Amino acid sequence: MNYADELVRRSSRVFTPALHLYYPIAVSRGHGTGVYAADGKKYLDFTSGLAVLNIGHNHPRVVASAKEQMESMIHTGGIYYNETTVAAAEKLVSITPEGLDMLFFSNSGAEAVEGAIKLARYVTERQGIISFTRAFHGRTLGALSVTTSTAAYRRRYHPLLPSVYQVPYPYCFRCPYRQTSSHCDMCCIHELEETLKHRIPAEETAAVLIEPFLGEGGYFPAPRGFLKALRKLCDRHGILLIFDEVQSGMGRTGCWFAADHAGVAPDIMTVAKGIASGFPLSAVVAKRALMEKWPSGAHGTTFGGNPVSCAASIATIDTITEEKLLGTALSRGASLMERLTRTIGGHPLVGQVRGFGYMVGIEFVTCDGFPNGSACEEVLAHCLASGLILIGCGPERHVIRFIPPLNVTEEELEAGLATLEEGVSKLS
Ligand SMILES: Cc1ncc(COP(=O)(O)O)c(C=O)c1O
Repeated sequence: MNYADELVRRSSRVFTPALHLYYPIAVSRGHGTGVYAADGKKYLDFTSGLAVLNIGHNHPRVVASAKEQMESMIHTGGIYYNETTVAAAEKLVSITPEGLDMLFFSNSGAEAVEGAIKLARYVTERQGIISFTRAFHGRTLGALSVTTSTAAYRRRYHPLLPSVYQVPYPYCFRCPYRQTSSHCDMCCIHELEETLKHRIPAEETAAVLIEPFLGEGGYFPAPRGFLKALRKLCDRHGILLIFDEVQSGMGRTGCWFAADHAGVAPDIMTVAKGIASGFPLSAVVAKRALMEKWPSGAHGTTFGGNPVSCAASIATIDTITEEKLLGTALSRGASLMERLTRTIGGHPLVGQVRGFGYMVGIEFVTCDGFPNGSACEEVLAHCLASGLILIGCGPERHVIRFIPPLNVTEEELEAGLATLEEGVSKLS
């Protein structure tokens, strides 16, 4: 038995099968876009460690900042103040949409979503939360209550949070109302109005929660017009608008946040994943007027705002800024979209190539247009065998997420694209 198989075997003896790992590769080292298996094989990691390593594995600046911080102070535990944690908060609010200038640090995306829901309920004194079918917001019970990317995640966990309602995500490629981009009556917005009319009144609705760029549910950006209409609807009814930017944030789309593409600012935003290049950190960021209504003790944390994670976060934001990685992702992302549309977009089993920056989804379809998980799986297997790690998403696992680090080199990008194109060309 080789080392990787042996590690998988040992892992299966100590970890519950509930913990799902994508591939049986035992990695011992990561640098930039590359990860190295224990047997020496190099892989290109175009998953960015599940949309976390936006400046690649072990960026030297992140490593140096974290090491330096570790020498002086590792943990504060909510007992005292520390320069690095405050500086990281100041840095984060300097890049979030205008008006979002106060935050609460926690450790994971789900925890940030929990915080956002609690904040919305607390400050509005309303119970209702509306989220979108297909959305993924995390697996803790509150976050799971607003997650509907697949029923498998919710199986046997009911009852979940009460007063939570779902309306269809504007997943226009499979429009729930069978409309087209040239004929769209914004039925998704009307459905929200209907929900407020029939299921929960506006005055009892605390917030509408949405991923401005749907992640796990199928890599689909909500149309700009929809997000603008959603903002208006929330304003009209005094409902808070929460954007979950856990996956789409921190430069992934070529803007700091996906919402920036639409020019729409939420009242509350959740950030995690790419915020600290792999160190556990997340944040609920909100308007000062809301945060100031959340009194001492209404929420709390032991590890949130860990100084080492915060040092890594500062280094991450500085690197993206100084190396102008947003601009690079935006322009190279546009070229790669154009290329993929040309090279694989016409394949009968490729339904759509979509996204911006380095957040690209490739949806596979059957000849009849249904989600095609097996074609997607075939391409992923080809890529893996060729040394390119990519993963899928969507309820049928029929969409490839193409998410290299923002600082992927041109050569690596070319190699990844060529492998992907070859995988698609082999589909029968
Ligand atoms: C949009 C979104 N929200 C929340 C989460 C949950 O984050 P975590 O796994 O860190 O709890 C995820 C994770 O994939 C996500 O994509």
